[in-house]
Amino acid sequence: MCGIIGIASNKPVSINIINSLKKLEYRGYDSAGLATLDNDIINEKKCSGRVEELEKILFKTPSNGNVGIGHVRWATHGIPNVVNAHPHSSEQVSVVHNGIIENSDELKNELESKGIKFKSQTDTEVVTLLITESLKENKPLNSVFKTLKKLKGSFALGIIFKKFPNIIIGARRGSPLAVGYSKKENYIGSDSYALKSMTNKISYLDDGELCVLTKDEVSFFDKNLKKVNKKILTMSENDVSAEKGEYKHFMFKEIVEQPDTVNNCISEYVDSLKKNINILNFPIEPQKINKIVLIGCGTAYNSCLTAKYWFEELTSIDIEIDIASEFRYRKLKFNPNNLYIFVSQSGETADTAAALDLCKKNNVKTCSIVNVIESTIARNSDWVLPIHAGIEIGVASTKAFLGQLTVLYILCLKLAFVRKDIDEITYIKNISNLKKIPDAIKKCLKNENEVQLMAKEFISAKGSMFLGRGSSFPIALEGALKLKELSYLHAEGYPAGEMKHGPLALIEEGLPVIVIAPKDKYFEKTISNMQEVIARGGKILFITDNKKESLNENIRFGFRVPHIDNLLSPILLTLPLQMLAYHVALLKNCDVDKPRNLAKSVTVE
Ligand code: AGP
Repeated sequence: MCGIIGIASNKPVSINIINSLKKLEYRGYDSAGLATLDNDIINEKKCSGRVEELEKILFKTPSNGNVGIGHVRWATHGIPNVVNAHPHSSEQVSVVHNGIIENSDELKNELESKGIKFKSQTDTEVVTLLITESLKENKPLNSVFKTLKKLKGSFALGIIFKKFPNIIIGARRGSPLAVGYSKKENYIGSDSYALKSMTNKISYLDDGELCVLTKDEVSFFDKNLKKVNKKILTMSENDVSAEKGEYKHFMFKEIVEQPDTVNNCISEYVDSLKKNINILNFPIEPQKINKIVLIGCGTAYNSCLTAKYWFEELTSIDIEIDIASEFRYRKLKFNPNNLYIFVSQSGETADTAAALDLCKKNNVKTCSIVNVIESTIARNSDWVLPIHAGIEIGVASTKAFLGQLTVLYILCLKLAFVRKDIDEITYIKNISNLKKIPDAIKKCLKNENEVQLMAKEFISAKGSMFLGRGSSFPIALEGALKLKELSYLHAEGYPAGEMKHGPLALIEEGLPVIVIAPKDKYFEKTISNMQEVIARGGKILFITDNKKESLNENIRFGFRVPHIDNLLSPILLTLPLQMLAYHVALLKNCDVDKPRNLAKSVTVE
């Protein structure tokens, strides 16, 4: 995923482009660039590495010009270097792009056969040169429109023109594109966060739409180039407020925000006076739902896997879960009484969006559980349940995971109650247990120093195992994912009962093994799996909510979370694992908020 920005103004734009690119760096950060129209010349500046490198270039050689575009890159086609950095410019046109042009090789061959030369290895340069060719016979908007018809794949584009120095054209297919409005200045950006320091008045392009910006006016066109009007949304302050404040990293700020995250979900969905969950407008009548399919990627998938245990425990609904990139290629039997639920923080993950499209094509009911309510996945679902976690900047998802778990739990409770799978006493008790979670999270966060001590065990280790049974197994997966993506260390989440079927061979003297063992029906079995690991020299880091369990001499470290209820233990058991990954990354001097090779939302397949 990359980040794009464009500004048409009555004053020079390069500083604001740089500031917006800094806000977009969470979307991709292996190279950056901008282009402005400077005395009718396209003045392009690019760098490999972070936006601050680009800023240094601009300090040395300022870019003037009141119209410009900028880009931060997460490489898909072509290695991350200056040549492949965006914008990609010809003498007449400059383009920034987020997405993938799937037929770029074929189009490139056609252009090269006409003697047209390429400078880069990117798919984006194909767009630049196609528009340049088309401009010889068409005006800018028609040149872009004709070019888009030749493209296969996904894109959000920002385009400026040497001979038409007052306009920026934006276009969207599959990758998000927002438009912002201000006095004597208008903008395009990959998301509202990129525009937040300049405006809170936002519109969103739908797939197939184009826009033409000047400093005074914005026009929108549909996929047939017919003029359309777009709603202007006013982003509320908390939709756009995301600064680190006194925290060193966004990720830690977002870990610490989690009591509020869970509280926000509860206050959004639970009517405290009536002690009821006010989820009402189900797309399928609850009694008619015979199966729920939960679909997501990465951490979102782990929330689905966790929720599976809740739905099995509390409802009579058949529950299935799948990884989005697998689901979308399966030979599925779609049933109108199945509800397909898509979990996604960004609401832009390409695989999840594609899985949703597959369901829509098969006319089944869909729901999305997202953090970004104006996202593609939300806008394409029949029903949206936002997690209200506030913007999440850290690439490693933390508060969004707890938000997803909380909304999934609330949805599960509501369905169980309206379907009479649970009685009112159980319903009310589980709601009141949920309300204890925010304070319990605060207690976990207070013991951060114990986790810091644990972190040292990982630095020189060959790898690590995270073990759990039942609903602790997906938490083991999530803990391993956090450690991998933040510290670049090998880590494997595994069902504790499965170790003896092979992975036990990995255990050797001193290997750190995280054992997640809440006081539930699996506790004794997990302890015996732990003994198997101890007998082979594994170094145990024990995480439990069992007050009575004494930490015997073979356990190197222990971390206790409060015990509220077995169903809710996965939420609390996640906290030490998030903090552990954070502290190991710090010890390894990794970039906590922007881990290498990753991006906040993977809008490519
Ligand atoms: C989580 O820490 C990862 N960064 C990643 O696995 C993420 O959860 C996944 O890419 C799904 O993103 P989404 O929730 O925005 O769809």
